[in-house]
Amino acid sequence: MAEFQFFWPTRFLFGRGEVEKAGGEAKKLGRRALLVAGRSSMRRMGILDRVMENVRSSGVDVVLHEGVGPNPRSGLIDEVGEFAKRERCEFVIGLGGGSVMDAAKGIAIAATHPGSVWEYINSFSEFSEVTGAALPVMEIPTVAGTGSEGNGTTVISNEKTHEKSFIKSDFLFPRISIIDPGLTLSVTPGMTAETGVDIVCHVLEPYLTRGTGFSASVRITEAIMRVVAENLPAAVADGDNYGARESLAWSATLACSPLRGLGLSGAGSLHHIEHMVSGWFDVSHGGGLCALLPSWLKYLSGDLREKLEQFGLEVFGSRDGIGAMEDWLRKVGADRTLADMGVDRKACRQMALDTIRVYGRGEKSIPSGSRRLFVEDIVNIYEDAF
Ligand SMILES: [Fe+2]
Repeated sequence: MAEFQFFWPTRFLFGRGEVEKAGGEAKKLGRRALLVAGRSSMRRMGILDRVMENVRSSGVDVVLHEGVGPNPRSGLIDEVGEFAKRERCEFVIGLGGGSVMDAAKGIAIAATHPGSVWEYINSFSEFSEVTGAALPVMEIPTVAGTGSEGNGTTVISNEKTHEKSFIKSDFLFPRISIIDPGLTLSVTPGMTAETGVDIVCHVLEPYLTRGTGFSASVRITEAIMRVVAENLPAAVADGDNYGARESLAWSATLACSPLRGLGLSGAGSLHHIEHMVSGWFDVSHGGGLCALLPSWLKYLSGDLREKLEQFGLEVFGSRDGIGAMEDWLRKVGADRTLADMGVDRKACRQMALDTIRVYGRGEKSIPSGSRRLFVEDIVNIYEDAF
């Protein structure tokens, strides 16, 4: 029996060329925008200039902050929040991948709320609540992956403690997201593969660890994973395959949207375990997931046998869910190890302790489906991923 609440206030514009509507949509949100972008690819391809020009031509002033890297830091977000305040920006536009979109949401808090954005992290018992004062956000994803364009969550890293966690609030849903799959055509094969694995993990975790078998949600989840399983190899082999790119773009949005795990009431743990890897070693989140996914699946396989078999059959047409997943990772070139990612093996225990401190809510373990994972369990998962 399923019980849930569902709230999805974002308006989406989806389709090739829709980015040209950014200006018309922006003027509904305010008269002065902070545009947040990544390190250089959007500028190099001329997309940044095109979007700025488009927004300005609709009569909206644009102030730019460029250079957001992977795993956006709370210190940077606080600084840019101050900048947005000084510049009297009325809303934020995030143009980029997951880090940029998450940074845009963090800045929307930092520019309007007292203290550091890190004080709003949900993991800690004394966190502050985000209010409706947060600046409105428009997201324009240029990578299909995190799904930040369709949810009320931002993932932020703390450069001092290496912790990485999230802020979730109804006030962080983008008002408007423009998903133009044409913007993702130039994403490299390696990044396409890593972010595609992230899409699968967003739904695989609640799917495998579900407490209920609410079939509407189970089948929707299987469909999303099947779409990614079919389309990711095509997009990796040929970046210009628009059909594959648009299927991945919408799957990414759905997989991390309020639809995620609806009514399944299970707690996954893979993202929590990965966050400490990217928090400590600044590797890409998707790359960390590629390295950890097989070892996480194998470690939990004793408890998940039936669900893994169903997953294998429904997504890959094979009873051997883990074997099929490993073959697929190899096919898309996403079969990485933590050593490949430059992670130091000596850090396993520290990362495991941090995972529990950040996500354990005061307990000595974190939930993972019907069981709990303790420090030794998480160390084993890390060790097996080398
Ligand atoms: Fe993710």
